[in-house]
Amino acid sequence: MKISVIGTGYVGLVTGACFAEKGHNVVCVDMRKEIVDKINKNMPTIHEPGLKELMDKSKDRLHATTDLTAAIMDTEISFICVGTPMNKKGGIDLSQIIDVSKSIGKALKAKNAWHMVVVKSTVVPGTTINIVAKNIADESKLRFPEGFGIGFNPEFLREGNAVVDSLSPDRIVLGTEDDKSLKKLKLLYGDKFEAQLVLTNTRTAEMVKYVNNSLLSTLISFSNEIANICEAVPGVDADEVLQIVTMDSRINPRHEGKLTNPQIITYLRGGCGFGGSCFPKDLKAITEYANKNGADAKLLTEVDNINRQRALTIMTRIEKRIKRFDGKTVTLLGAAFKPDTDDIRESPALHFIELLLKRNAKINITDPEALNNTKRLYGRKLRYFDDPRKALKGADLAILVTRWKVFAEIKPQEFSSLMRTPLLFDGRRMYDKKAYSDHLEYMGVGFQ
Ligand code: UDX
Repeated sequence: MKISVIGTGYVGLVTGACFAEKGHNVVCVDMRKEIVDKINKNMPTIHEPGLKELMDKSKDRLHATTDLTAAIMDTEISFICVGTPMNKKGGIDLSQIIDVSKSIGKALKAKNAWHMVVVKSTVVPGTTINIVAKNIADESKLRFPEGFGIGFNPEFLREGNAVVDSLSPDRIVLGTEDDKSLKKLKLLYGDKFEAQLVLTNTRTAEMVKYVNNSLLSTLISFSNEIANICEAVPGVDADEVLQIVTMDSRINPRHEGKLTNPQIITYLRGGCGFGGSCFPKDLKAITEYANKNGADAKLLTEVDNINRQRALTIMTRIEKRIKRFDGKTVTLLGAAFKPDTDDIRESPALHFIELLLKRNAKINITDPEALNNTKRLYGRKLRYFDDPRKALKGADLAILVTRWKVFAEIKPQEFSSLMRTPLLFDGRRMYDKKAYSDHLEYMGVGFQ
């Protein structure tokens, strides 16, 4: 099938490359010429494992252009993958969706064939029908569903795992309102992917994406609240409590007598909070949507609040011990919002940096991938180190922010010999409490 993918950010480029890998002919559309040129030279514009190999393998079926009209004319189905960032008021900014759907409508006016438009960008319920379909109909003077098709097909791509998630999804959710659109989408995905096709309407599919991310972020904030409570109880460690709780076979089923340890339990662990380009933005969008529509979203509002206060909650604890940060050197182990990515968007590290700068601390920061992005944001306000051991030299406090494997390799003796005052705050509960406490002052999330 001939597909156009509009917007070549994270989701667009990975989606395009994966469709090309599955044998479809894909043209990616982006208004930035430098991005288009790079894709046409098989150069990924984002850092994602396996993407370059995929682009190389399917280079004959993957192209890019800045010409949206030509792409619409030449393809039978278009995926909208533009950004839906947070606006200044904390809600969803749909301006790119609005612009693109109008442009598609204008292009379709001149096209003499039925064309299908699928929204993949994360949008609040009703957007696909009320905004995208409406704009296309208004601009093209075509009627839905006779003149064109519409669908919503959410992505569940994790950064760092996006290619695998996209080639072998656990489910493919197809939200449609008419038979012809559904038939087209089934044809596109049908025999090329092993995953189950889940068929529903567009609003449900739009909602599924938010609920999925809301559930996972709720587990993280829940665990952080439990950590806060346990920190008030002498002799209790939230890590141990949650470990025992997650042995409940309803959370962690057994197979042949052994725990299966499903991934869900890794979200049930106290830490520095969640970040990234999705969880924080999606929570804001769905709570704003709820408020606007007269629905109560107290829990999700609090999930977001707990997360925003996370670094301050941790800093307040450390401050009780350190008293003043003035002139002290603090080493942040990690800048990325999670390991195996260079992405620092909404990273907990940024919250720590802001709080520490306000307190006049000197900040050393180290990260295997995300230092360039951090430099771009903070320039000379911080000191940057590729080598974590150099970053620890002479420090009065180290805070483990990101669960990178290389940080796990730093032995307790190294912390104590390198630092001026060997005080480690384990913000991810990555280190062995007993082993590290024997050699240095070890503080962490979830215990006194
Ligand atoms: C997320 C969703 O997982 C994905 O389905 C959606 O389409 C986009 O948003 P991503 O932001 O890449 O993907 O990150 P994810 O790996 O889900 O991590 C989100 C947050 O959860 C991070 O802050 C991370 O540190 C935390 N997390 C992740 C955990 O606490 N435990 C884990 O096991 C994984």
